[in-house]
Amino acid sequence: MTLGETLALATGHAATRKASYPVGVLWCANSRGLGWTFPAAVKRQLKVDTAGLSVLHLFGGRADFGTRLDIDPVVVPDVIGDAWIPPFGRESFDVVILDPPYLRLCGEELSSLMRTAAWVARKRVVWFHTIWVSSRHGLKPERAWLVRVGDSCQARVLQYFRVTRRVSAPTHFKRGPAIKYNRWLAQPAALPLLEAGGD
Ligand SMILES: C[S@@+](CC[C@H](N)C(=O)[O-])C[C@H]1O[C@@H](n2cnc3c(N)ncnc32)[C@H](O)[C@@H]1O
Repeated sequence: MTLGETLALATGHAATRKASYPVGVLWCANSRGLGWTFPAAVKRQLKVDTAGLSVLHLFGGRADFGTRLDIDPVVVPDVIGDAWIPPFGRESFDVVILDPPYLRLCGEELSSLMRTAAWVARKRVVWFHTIWVSSRHGLKPERAWLVRVGDSCQARVLQYFRVTRRVSAPTHFKRGPAIKYNRWLAQPAALPLLEAGGD
């Protein structure tokens, strides 16, 4: 059985017996050395679905649409910052897209990231990763795809969530490595963004 057939079966199962929203399969061609940027089919889908809306990428990388926040100055983002503590207010953008590095994320890291995105987004949060996330923090799943990105690659998921209710402001981390962010949460103005200005 091919990967495509496996995904199609899984999709059918999810669509008919589990998910209450449409779940599809997005088949991307093998990439030609594009590394971790959005596969072309995923980018096309995102551009169509966000047309006319303001978009924030909290893991901007080299995306060529919307506003890009990234922690790495090498990708020349619009804003240098940390996705877990972005310097944006409540409902600043229509859509917030999350495409974190494809590493393991613990429950608390995932939860605080989704909560932060739900805080900044007016309409929708988009998740692209190897981990399937559950809906929380006032985010209701509205559509999803299982994504084949290429041969010998981990499959991904593309999940859309609609913002249904306002969450309270992001809270402090209680355990894990993200505890170091607490001082910035307490005083966001102290974010070390001097690099952005070059002075
Ligand atoms: C999978 S790539 C995103 C690629 C992007 N979607 C594109 O099409 O180019 C992940 C990006 O997240 C950035 N990143 C890693 N940790 C971050 C953090 N804590 N806050 C913000 N960006 C981070 C990396 O520098 C990298 O550019």
